[in-house]
Amino acid sequence: MQPTSQVNQRIARLAAHLNPPNLQTEETSGLMRENCRAKGGSPGFKVGILGAAGGIGQPLAMLMKMNPLVSVLHLYDVVNSPGVTADISHMDTGAVVRGFLGQQQLEDALTGMDLVIIPAGVPRKPGMTRDDLFNINAGIVKTLCEGIAKCCPKAIVNLISNPVNSTVPIAAEVFKKAGTYDPNRLLGVTMLDVVRANTFVAEVLGLDPREVDVPVVGGHAGVTILPLLSQV
Ligand SMILES: NC(=O)c1ccc[n+]([C@@H]2O[C@H](COP(=O)([O-])OP(=O)(O)OC[C@H]3O[C@@H](n4cnc5c(N)ncnc54)[C@H](O)[C@@H]3O)[C@@H](O)[C@H]2O)c1
Repeated sequence: MQPTSQVNQRIARLAAHLNPPNLQTEETSGLMRENCRAKGGSPGFKVGILGAAGGIGQPLAMLMKMNPLVSVLHLYDVVNSPGVTADISHMDTGAVVRGFLGQQQLEDALTGMDLVIIPAGVPRKPGMTRDDLFNINAGIVKTLCEGIAKCCPKAIVNLISNPVNSTVPIAAEVFKKAGTYDPNRLLGVTMLDVVRANTFVAEVLGLDPREVDVPVVGGHAGVTILPLLSQV
């Protein structure tokens, strides 16, 4: 038998877990309390994903929730973030997961973040030119980066939204205008090019891709992607 005080303490902890502090109210957020869980609150990186409900955002959210270095995970999108937040928050790892829905919650999603990863936007669809893609995603990235400059100016920013060759300079201009630009903290995500290069070279050489390392330099579109095959 456990002493009553211990049992009460445990019940109090469970109650706090189910009603985490610092959560959006249901009236303002459109996000129900049961969609969020707070687990542990251990020290670690606070990570925000903007565009968390999309094709890239959802598996990325899962990977971040699995990462033991992450203590807080904020999932922001203009659609569907409550459901994604609920699913991700049920994973039995330590990071606290909170969901944010819509422009009016962007600042709450960003406040206090150490790392912001941005896969928000649209992917290129049949019939869309790169210019179409640029016009839509440039505006989205600009707005999100203005929020970062205001709410977490010291955060590291990883830009996934395409065209990365252009969205990174847009972000840089937003941060310069806000006086928060630090080139060491703004990165375009181009790991996909490295992964592909490793896979293709491994296929040709009949090797295990995990043992192949192709350095890739340049940009993230068409001919600007330059695998350094002489350095494999
Ligand atoms: N850098 C890379 O290696 C790489 C790889 C794959 C995809 N991408 C790019 O990533 C982006 C996302 O691709 P996807 O397949 O996940 O697309 P998707 O359409 O499945 O998801 C995009 C998400 O962004 C959200 N979104 C749209 N406007 C938003 C806004 N203003 N604020 C917050 N969220 C917003 C959408 O609601 C959606 O959930 C595309 O631009 C794509 O080209 C880059």
